[in-house]
Amino acid sequence: MKTYLAIVSLLVGATSFMMYVYLNVFPLQMKGKKIVDMKIFNAEDLKKYSGIGVKSNGKEKLETPLYLAILGKVFDVTAGRSFYGEGGGYDFFTGIDGTRAFVSGNFTKEGLIDDIDDFDDEQLLGIKQWVEFYESKSDGKYFLVGYLIGRYYDSKGKPTKILRDILKRLETAELRKEMKKKYEKIVPSCNSHWQQGKGTLYSCDDPDRSPREEFFFGQSNSRCACIQMNEPGEGQEILKKEKVTLHLYSGCQPTASTCLVSDTS
Ligand code: HEM
Repeated sequence: MKTYLAIVSLLVGATSFMMYVYLNVFPLQMKGKKIVDMKIFNAEDLKKYSGIGVKSNGKEKLETPLYLAILGKVFDVTAGRSFYGEGGGYDFFTGIDGTRAFVSGNFTKEGLIDDIDDFDDEQLLGIKQWVEFYESKSDGKYFLVGYLIGRYYDSKGKPTKILRDILKRLETAELRKEMKKKYEKIVPSCNSHWQQGKGTLYSCDDPDRSPREEFFFGQSNSRCACIQMNEPGEGQEILKKEKVTLHLYSGCQPTASTCLVSDTS
């Protein structure tokens, strides 16, 4: 009995060890029931998967799969050939890392680049959503096939400093987004109504509140916030060290609850 137990534990131990070594030495990705080996691509390799000659109508037999890269992660998007095949509307994304265009919407040669160093929080989160979109389809439709050597991964497939910094910034952006959500529950947005030839009428439902143009940290766009006149520091405890800046719209009264901002101001 003892010998039998010893043999069983030896076999279990050996199998676990082999699994550990295999999974750590060969990074794998599950695609449904299929296991895909991760590949390290250089830009030239990736170009081969841009689907030239692969029509989006799906009638032609695919010679090569369609791959696109985002933030250096290479995904097989062959199953979406109606989008990514030639003439499919988004065919420009294949064979390259066009991370920037996923948020900028600039699909020209100049726009289809990987550099997003100047992106603000919101734009970074937009990129993260797209990466998650491709990852979330990993149970069948799209799947990760490897990493692109360059801006985001080195020749060993390890994240570069640029990528590590972006991931850190993304963590902060997520926290700020949560904070902002809580803050905006306390300091509500204005109602806004655009009238041709007149401009935008901002208004606050509460007569004790007044419209201000509010710039939030880490974001280049502003919102109209209804600030409470008798409590200027409202919601500040949520923001901790972070800051918002408020501007009175030009031509508006500081304590009025409505404010018309002409299109030319
Ligand atoms: C930054 C701008 C945009 C980007 C980066 C973008 C990107 C994409 C991508 C990658 C797909 C394919 C998704 C997949 O693989 O399933 C897609 C699908 C689609 N896009 Fe866009 N798009 C943008 C703007 C727009 C706009 C402005 C419209 C509409 C006016 C639009 C309409 C659509 C539609 C209708 C689909 C197909 C959805 C479906 O059938 O599931 N897109 N878009």
